[in-house]
Amino acid sequence: MLPKYSLSALSIALLLLIGIFIWHDQQNKVAQTPVVINNIAVAPLPTLTANMVSQGEILYQQFCAACHMPDLRGAPDWKKPLPDGSLPPPPHDDSGHTWHHPDFLLLQIMSEGGAEYEGVMPGFGSQLTQEDMRAILEFLKSQWSQKSREYQWWITNTYPTPTPGP
Ligand code: HEC
Repeated sequence: MLPKYSLSALSIALLLLIGIFIWHDQQNKVAQTPVVINNIAVAPLPTLTANMVSQGEILYQQFCAACHMPDLRGAPDWKKPLPDGSLPPPPHDDSGHTWHHPDFLLLQIMSEGGAEYEGVMPGFGSQLTQEDMRAILEFLKSQWSQKSREYQWWITNTYPTPTPGP
């Protein structure tokens, strides 16, 4: 006969397995639901890549945190123009509007800076690779709520990407 403790260990292991199975099933359901906004459906929200997020966080703290703040909160009065007319660094968390913009635009701002729209955001195209910038973006995404992430994923998939000129 099996000793008592091994029986209970067995049932705990079984419960754990069932738990993992249910959890996994739920995760799949979440991951497989298309994102629908304004009656336009796009693919389900992809899960983030953990090592890109952690790499992005390191780069964010190194290159962006001085202006946008280590906790992504931006400058306190970020909506109020400075005496020279420029805008202070905005937040990158849910309280800002970074998540209103599609991927290509955020990568473009990171690479080229804000000069194109008279902003003072510096460009990082000569210091960071595309892969670095994608990792930083992945980190920013990891800090957004599910709702903001879904919106940003949706706008990324529905916004017409400008084709390069001749
Ligand atoms: C020297 C300060 C400074 C640094 C460093 C800096 N930024 Fe900015 N950033 C700004 C300012 C100021 C603005 C807003 C005004 C403007 O448009 O130029 C801005 C705007 C932005 C925007 C546009 C947000 C929106 O909602 O329109 C993005 C995206 C952004 N920064 C990302 C980054 C990332 C990523 C880094 C690090 C790689 C970074 N910034 C580093 C100052 C900075």
